[in-house]
Amino acid sequence: MDGNGRWAKQRGLPRSEGHRAGAEAVRRLADSALAAGVRYVTLFCFSTENWKRPSAEIKSLFSLFDEYLGRNVDSFREKGINLAHIGRIDSLPALLQAKLKKVESENVPPEREKLLLILALNYGSRDEIADAVRSIADRVQKGTLKPSDISVETVSRAMYMPDVPDPDLLIRTSGELRISNFLLWQSAYAEFYFTDTLWPDFSDADLKAALADFSGRKRRFGNV
Ligand code: IPE
Ligand code: MG
Repeated sequence: MDGNGRWAKQRGLPRSEGHRAGAEAVRRLADSALAAGVRYVTLFCFSTENWKRPSAEIKSLFSLFDEYLGRNVDSFREKGINLAHIGRIDSLPALLQAKLKKVESENVPPEREKLLLILALNYGSRDEIADAVRSIADRVQKGTLKPSDISVETVSRAMYMPDVPDPDLLIRTSGELRISNFLLWQSAYAEFYFTDTLWPDFSDADLKAALADFSGRKRRFGNV
């Protein structure tokens, strides 16, 4: 989700207003994804690199996450939208961590879940891979896993959300043409969709356009 700052700048507003409009776009996207029958959405909300931003902006993002969770959780429940997170949340403010854990503990049971929204918070794909390598090394050291038994499946199972399928479609907004440390392992066979739309402007029509484009792709997974 990129382009919040540019969206605000175009309007002569502070960057925090761009993030606020971006949060509104997330709420809209949840409804659009649900209506389109999308089962999983992972949103890159805060990267391990975002700590380089001015502390006032970081603070305003954290308070926005808190407010967003509080404001939307009831309507999410009613619609069958569950929330989860990936990332090293132990560096986030304690209140935000507590709020996230509470929200996740109140998810509807799996049989009623229609959409899982995964918030990537203090997430970095290289960190995730390093954490996976560490947990695999631990098992080898303890003698419960043989190095020769380490497979692609072993590595996949060591990722933060082993039960969530790899993404089929990866959407990047605001004209950026990079992955920026997002789901590197999982997106090996994802279809990429790039749009110049700034994240706060991303609408139901934008999601439909991305899905229509995706439907026209020939996915051969290395086959002919
Ligand atoms: C999204 O927009 C930011 C986060 C989710 C942290 P940006 O803040 O990167 O917006 P630009 O790139 O400055 O327009
Ligand atoms: Mg940006």
